Amino acid sequence: MKKIAVLTSGGDAPGMNAAVRSVVRKALYEGLEVAGVFNGYQGLIDGKIELFQLGSVGDIIHRGGTVLRSARSAEFRTLEGRQKAVKQLTLNGIDGLVIIGGDGSFRGAHELTTLGIPCVCVPATIDNDINGTEFTIGFDTALNTVIEAIDKIRDTASSHERTFIVEVMGRDAGDLALWAGLAGGAETILIPEEQYDVEDIVERLESGTGRGKKHSILIVAEGVMSANELATLLNEKAGIETRVSVLGHIQRGGSPSARDRVIASEFGARAVEVLMAGRGGVAIGMQNHQVVDYDLEQVFQTEHQLDAAKYKLSKELSI
Ligand code: F6P
Repeated sequence: MKKIAVLTSGGDAPGMNAAVRSVVRKALYEGLEVAGVFNGYQGLIDGKIELFQLGSVGDIIHRGGTVLRSARSAEFRTLEGRQKAVKQLTLNGIDGLVIIGGDGSFRGAHELTTLGIPCVCVPATIDNDINGTEFTIGFDTALNTVIEAIDKIRDTASSHERTFIVEVMGRDAGDLALWAGLAGGAETILIPEEQYDVEDIVERLESGTGRGKKHSILIVAEGVMSANELATLLNEKAGIETRVSVLGHIQRGGSPSARDRVIASEFGARAVEVLMAGRGGVAIGMQNHQVVDYDLEQVFQTEHQLDAAKYKLSKELSI
């Protein structure tokens, strides 16, 4: 392994830059050449590849987004597109690739590995939904962004004695909603992994009001339904009036938390070590607070599992 490259793909996540920096600096420290690929897999197909130096990743550790930029490439999903990507890698003398992204990006990396390019994946998504790792880069920052919003909403909710519905990201994954609900003291948390029952939500709200509760906060992951739909449901079923806040892409931005910067630095460096050992088709992650690497195929073997104990606890604490 003499020359490697790094790209970011899929939805951006705070801490991606810290991971890019780590890959580049660790590679240079180890005497490898390292290139940055711009615009994700699409940029790889289009040959947007630049040789990096130490200074190429200076002053980015604290920045949100990704300096390499990101994309969701339809062309890369075709075999023809992937073959173009392999051609670019060969043309540029690149022996291995670090992919920083979420599960869609990991699938792309798996395909590239089967075409003979050793790929190592670094998990970065605010969804925290990659099998085999307890944390993904960006989740902690996004969670803190949501909590900051909930705390502010709580101020106005209590002043006006209102019920608020906060919609957070997560089409298929409820981690952000669940952790935010737990940390923000939400009364009800709706996540894609669990069935919901409108009658139950109404009952919980009404029994809270009966006990003298003056305000409530409900968290809904976007994959369940929109906050506006839930507001309409509650109004139609029980005449409950609510206010709605949709946090949207604010959750993806901002300076990464210290925790995200640290795991990004650890994951990036480990990815380089794995490539140097001549291994591809590998995912990096965290298990029991330790950085680990494991077979990329493990990521796709099962559906992402919800932390059932946390969900149960959120129910117990929000009676
Ligand atoms: O995967 C990260 C994520 O932010 C999801 O939580 C969200 O559903 C999706 O990306 C939104 O994607 P886009 O920015 O392409 O609309």
